[in-house]
Amino acid sequence: MVLITRRIPEPGMKLLRGKCRLRLWNRDEPMPEKILRKKIRGVDGVLCLLTDKLTREMMQAAGPRLKVISTMAVGFDNIDVKEATRRGIFVGNTPGVLTEATADLTWALMLALARKIPQGDRIMRQGKFTGWSPTLLLGADFFGRTLGIVGMGRIGRAVARRAQGFGMRIIYHDSRRLAASEERVVGARYVSLQELIRRSDFITLHCPLTRETWHLIGGKELAMMKPGAYLLNVSRGPVVDEKALVRALQRKQIAGAGLDVYEHEPRLAPGLAKLDNVLLAPHLGSASFETRNKMAVMAAQNLLCGLAGKIPPWAVNPEAKKHRGS
Ligand code: GLV
Repeated sequence: MVLITRRIPEPGMKLLRGKCRLRLWNRDEPMPEKILRKKIRGVDGVLCLLTDKLTREMMQAAGPRLKVISTMAVGFDNIDVKEATRRGIFVGNTPGVLTEATADLTWALMLALARKIPQGDRIMRQGKFTGWSPTLLLGADFFGRTLGIVGMGRIGRAVARRAQGFGMRIIYHDSRRLAASEERVVGARYVSLQELIRRSDFITLHCPLTRETWHLIGGKELAMMKPGAYLLNVSRGPVVDEKALVRALQRKQIAGAGLDVYEHEPRLAPGLAKLDNVLLAPHLGSASFETRNKMAVMAAQNLLCGLAGKIPPWAVNPEAKKHRGS
């Protein structure tokens, strides 16, 4: 028996039908934790989403049959991977296929934010456009400005490649510096986090959520940013101290923020939605038809492999195999 915590795109469902017995949460909203705890009991595998918390307690509730947790996402901070490994449970994710779509969304947010597209759309719909104006909705330039990328993994590099086309200066910070040849390809220079924060006109976050990156950008870091700079977060909400961000935006300490993720998703920090210098998207990073179809297929393939006792093709803990049956 396999638990699927939400209907996934059809190409993924198609792979699973007939291969295993499915217990499906057939609603278009996250499965409440209490229900997940009940439904997970006795299953051999779980196909989950980033909204499901697969904690030690949840694995305990599932029982000893659980062999695989397959998440339809690249980020897996919602899963206690250490605990899964200890229990011999494979964890699989969907890296690579969503890189370009997520980089596109980052740029969509960055452009719309700095060029005030939502404000312009509102003016048009309200019939308030009275004709071209030399001072209407002036925004920021990209050409010649500095883009600071925090987290230079697959998505960070895809964002950098696009920035080259915009004629930007690119600096980056990561816990691991790229090889010189990789730096040349993306045209980016490695700097400390402090230098990146102080020098960037646009800061964009693409690191995973870990103990080290939790609140990486807080009040102190926001105060170090240039007054005309923008912050983009398309990684995980808790990388930014959202309350501190609201304060910085209210005081106009920075020019604006574009967010796709939230610290207490789907809730927003008090005051955030009232601000005009913020652009809010509902976690759309990978939300293109093709990308979501590919993610669903990968998640189904990971699940089926794990059920068969084999290491999933995109396992984040292949070493779980050593712990199986122990
Ligand atoms: C989306 O946020 C993902 O991790 O796939």
